[in-house]
Amino acid sequence: MFKLDRKFLIAGTALALSATMLFSAGVKDALDGGMTYTRADGMYSSYHINEQNLTGINNGRIATANELKAWDLDIMPDGTGLPEGEGSVEDGDELYEAQCASCHGEFGAGGAGYPTLSGGSMESLKNQRTAPGMEAPTRTIGTYWPKASTLIWYIRDAMPYAHPKSLTNNELYAITAYLLSVNEIKIDGVELDDEYVLNREKFLKIKMPNEDGFYPNIDGPDGVENMRKFFADRATNIGAGKRCMTDCIKDAPVMKIGHEITDVSPAYGTTRDLPPKKDKGAVSEVQELYNANCSLCHKTDKMGAPATGDKEAWAELMEKGFDKVVFNAIEGTPNGMPAKGGNVDLTNSEVKKIVEYMRDLSIDKK
Ligand code: HEC
Ligand code: HEC
Repeated sequence: MFKLDRKFLIAGTALALSATMLFSAGVKDALDGGMTYTRADGMYSSYHINEQNLTGINNGRIATANELKAWDLDIMPDGTGLPEGEGSVEDGDELYEAQCASCHGEFGAGGAGYPTLSGGSMESLKNQRTAPGMEAPTRTIGTYWPKASTLIWYIRDAMPYAHPKSLTNNELYAITAYLLSVNEIKIDGVELDDEYVLNREKFLKIKMPNEDGFYPNIDGPDGVENMRKFFADRATNIGAGKRCMTDCIKDAPVMKIGHEITDVSPAYGTTRDLPPKKDKGAVSEVQELYNANCSLCHKTDKMGAPATGDKEAWAELMEKGFDKVVFNAIEGTPNGMPAKGGNVDLTNSEVKKIVEYMRDLSIDKK
């Protein structure tokens, strides 16, 4: 991905340069964005990146089939992009426990501010959030998502949060099957019990409960009629309000959202500003590295990692000797510590510094 980004950047630079060149013919070096480029064969050096066109305005080159493939990621409802593979609900359960539950809660129940993946009711979607105490609309996979393709696509490309694109196709089907099962979605009338094995063919038969909840089906010969019916039944489909253009608040059925919505977690805000920047105080470089690479698992012992600040756990670790512990952090352990926390870009000495930092927060100073 990074490589690709760079190529795009290069194409951009080439364009910018070509413009510079038009106005600065005869100048030896070109200055662009603070960089100096020497000339060769009457061309700026960076120009030679493009083998296809060395004269005139340079529009970069056509992306190769492989480069396009790297961007062509979508999984569509019609099955485009949907991989081959299979996985059972039971395997998905295990994978979910290991890789997802720490953030999304047991059975997708949510928690700690991460999205809830199950529960709620379709009925709640119709609630207008107008009355205190009324259940707010709960939008989860089962109650809200119109297409299962979005789910499998999203999981493949974005989850687990710290290691997107790490799941194999079979794991992907297993986790998706598990999430569908905890959302009580049936496929072709069949309940997804533990033994259920999801594959591409069955996946294409999924109909999500709220698929038709977004707009009336305006395709096909009955489209117009469907639309009329949909808008005619405002109480069901649009809400209990009456049409009103002026002075509406006097008109009893039209209610105004006059209170803060608190029964959603996290609560809906009434302002749209970004959250205020917290003053982090002085954050050292090593602390930043720790926050970015390690704190996810080491903040608590929930994932089986020695928690930073847990004096007992660290005293026990130190019995092995500091160097051995650093070695384990660099190389990883079979029990869940990924080598360098999963970030191969960290140098050994950076990892050592982070472990020192973690240790210093976790042992009593003599
Ligand atoms: C470290 C925490 C973390 C882990 C672990 C994690 N997720 Fe997520 N997940 C998130 C966050 C944060 C979001 C919201 C991202 C956003 O909206 O940009 C999210 C969003 C989602 C969503 C979309 C929810 C919605 O309603 O929009 C799905 C589905 C999902 N995750 C599935 C998974 C699966 C499956 C796994 C395990 C393979 C997993 N997640 C692991 C943090 C995590
Ligand atoms: C995905 C979760 C995860 C991340 C990210 C992670 N760790 Fe760990 N770490 C673990 C787990 C789980 C263990 C316990 C493994 C064991 O007992 O073998 C562990 C153990 C350790 C240990 C003890 C090794 C020993 O000798 O037993 C150290 C030190 C350590 N981690 C440092 C780090 C550092 C430094 C980072 C960031 C660069 C980091 N970890 C990132 C999960 C993680």
